[in-house]
Amino acid sequence: MTRETRGTLHLEDARVIKQTAYDGEQFVLRLSASACAAHAQPGSFVHLTCEPSIPMRRPLSIMRADPGQGWIEVLYKIVGSGLRALAARKPGDTVSLIGPIGKPFTVHSERPRPVLIGGGVGIPPMVFLADRLRHQTGSPAGRYKPLVLMGSEIPFPFRTRPSAIVVAGMPVATIACMPLLDEWGIASRLATRSGFPGCYEGFVTELADEWLASLGPAELAEVELFACGPTPMLAATAALARRHGVPCQVSLEEFMACAVGGCAGCTVLVRTPEGNAMKRVCVDGPVFDALTVF
Ligand SMILES: Cc1cc2nc3c(=O)[nH]c(=O)nc-3n(C[C@H](O)[C@H](O)[C@H](O)COP(=O)(O)OP(=O)(O)OC[C@H]3O[C@@H](n4cnc5c(N)ncnc54)[C@H](O)[C@@H]3O)c2cc1C
Ligand code: FES
Repeated sequence: MTRETRGTLHLEDARVIKQTAYDGEQFVLRLSASACAAHAQPGSFVHLTCEPSIPMRRPLSIMRADPGQGWIEVLYKIVGSGLRALAARKPGDTVSLIGPIGKPFTVHSERPRPVLIGGGVGIPPMVFLADRLRHQTGSPAGRYKPLVLMGSEIPFPFRTRPSAIVVAGMPVATIACMPLLDEWGIASRLATRSGFPGCYEGFVTELADEWLASLGPAELAEVELFACGPTPMLAATAALARRHGVPCQVSLEEFMACAVGGCAGCTVLVRTPEGNAMKRVCVDGPVFDALTVF
């Protein structure tokens, strides 16, 4: 059952296609949700009923969407009762979904070197953005050369391997990548303080800092940062953007009740040209210009 609630927002009974478990209580859930898949954009999220007996929905970013086959994928890590109940859903079960929600990331053709920085469960929107960028690579809109940097302190929710793609300016031993991105022809590198092989030893923002420092002024003028992850990581990314003089968009997380703009429970302070304003993360975001929120 699909019901359009307003514009591009849809309420769907989404069928579980598959659910894959990874180390660290992480799961990738593929849902049949054709209306959501048709309208999803990198940065948008869904609001899911994890289990009918659990009253509040839970917000999760969309990691991939296939409009042709009508499915979406989310990646989540169990925090409490809601996501634990979601992890118990089996293929064939139905999950009520509202989405896609929120203002997505915007790429700019005059900045053809997007650097996508994802931390922990902030990885999903970066995979989605990379997926959309690969279809635009070589298009008249811009020849994008994205670089995806991911950080995690628990095992990554995929089997890492050395990348076949050379990235100039990358620390020599930093060779591990996300295989799916390598297959798409998109460069990626991984960072951790947990000693995983082939990964940069440190925070993902430190890796980004080293790589940005290797660029000349003309290359830096082509860079734009996109980030999703824990708030300290987003603050560090905003500081990087300031230091290197590049624009930066971040996807914020806030506790959400309605997720459709009605309750004002998710507001954050944003600097606007007219002065400070309270903005709702669910519908005015979750993507904001980093320099207006940090
Ligand atoms: C826009 C957005 C996108 C997100 N994308 C992802 C994602 O892709 N993968 C992922 O693993 N997590 C994501 N989160 C965080 C995820 O929604 C929370 O971890 C989840 O709601 C926790 O639910 P729980 O029942 O397991 O935990 P509980 O702690 O039992 O949840 C209790 C309540 O707190 C709320 N809550 C708890 N933590 C958060 C949080 N960090 N943000 C918002 N609400 C919270 C829940 O909605 C629920 O109402 C996202 C959050 C937002 C706002
Ligand atoms: S969660 Fe209700 S307005 Fe954002």
